[in-house]
Amino acid sequence: TDLYCVMGNPVAHSRSPAIHARFAELTGEVLAYERRLVALDGFAEGVRDFAAQGGRGCNVTVPFKTEAPALATHCSERVQLAGAANTLAFRPDGSIHCDNTDGLGLVADITRNAGVALQGASVLLVGAGGAAAGVLGPLLQAGACQVTIANRTVAKAEALVQSHQALAAHLGAQLAASSLDGVAGAFDVVVNATASSLAGDAVPVAASVLRPGGLAYDMMYGPAAQGFLDWAAAHGAVPRDGLGMLVEQAAEAFAFWRGVRPPSAQVLAELQAQLA
Ligand code: ATR
Repeated sequence: TDLYCVMGNPVAHSRSPAIHARFAELTGEVLAYERRLVALDGFAEGVRDFAAQGGRGCNVTVPFKTEAPALATHCSERVQLAGAANTLAFRPDGSIHCDNTDGLGLVADITRNAGVALQGASVLLVGAGGAAAGVLGPLLQAGACQVTIANRTVAKAEALVQSHQALAAHLGAQLAASSLDGVAGAFDVVVNATASSLAGDAVPVAASVLRPGGLAYDMMYGPAAQGFLDWAAAHGAVPRDGLGMLVEQAAEAFAFWRGVRPPSAQVLAELQAQLA
């Protein structure tokens, strides 16, 4: 049986094993997918061990996404742009390919599952850490024409603008960096990519960034997203949590490994029903 895993620390909460097991069931692919808790200083060793045991691929989660590219022999353009990877594939010739499917997952969930167009949209990306870095390129590639990155540490937002400036110019999109309280205007789509809710803090931007009927997306799901979703709904925006992004990034990883596209919308609906 082909073996896959998700590596992280912590990893016990990960829903990836259940999602990939369901994908396998629905596509008729035969594989096993497990959780692997690796020590904070043991990621490289964990990957080596897993490959030696015949592992075919692994998903990478906190806090190892930025360490993953250095272990790969081939990195996709998305990985190079984001500086982070969430998917490794171990090929029979010993090569290790990596991709970052987080942004594709976010874009797929927004456009296909939520039915919100990104082509020509204005987007506010709140946060400039690893989560934000992973989705900025795909948001631009999906046609967002004006993207503002607001972050507590403005220098990190400016660095993301720098690293994505060439892509934005190539696509004819506008990129800007801002402080959290300096954001001007309202946006079609607001994406929360900060960890502020985990710290129990309030939503870090003013409600004036929301547009009535606009989409307010939190990349987290479950209790961690609730504060942001409640805030967005109270101000007339359409709230959406990151469960669909989770399923869609998994579907992209599954396709990267197996060459088969799983029915992600069905699996998302099943998960939503389970969690409701
Ligand atoms: P991740 O991989 O989840 O993005 P990260 O790289 O540590 O994790 O980034 C966390 C993000 O949440 C950053 O944008 C961080 O802001 P700073 O860059 O200023 O640190 C943001 N963040 C975390 N706690 C926050 C809070 N209490 N208020 C506002 N932003 C916060």
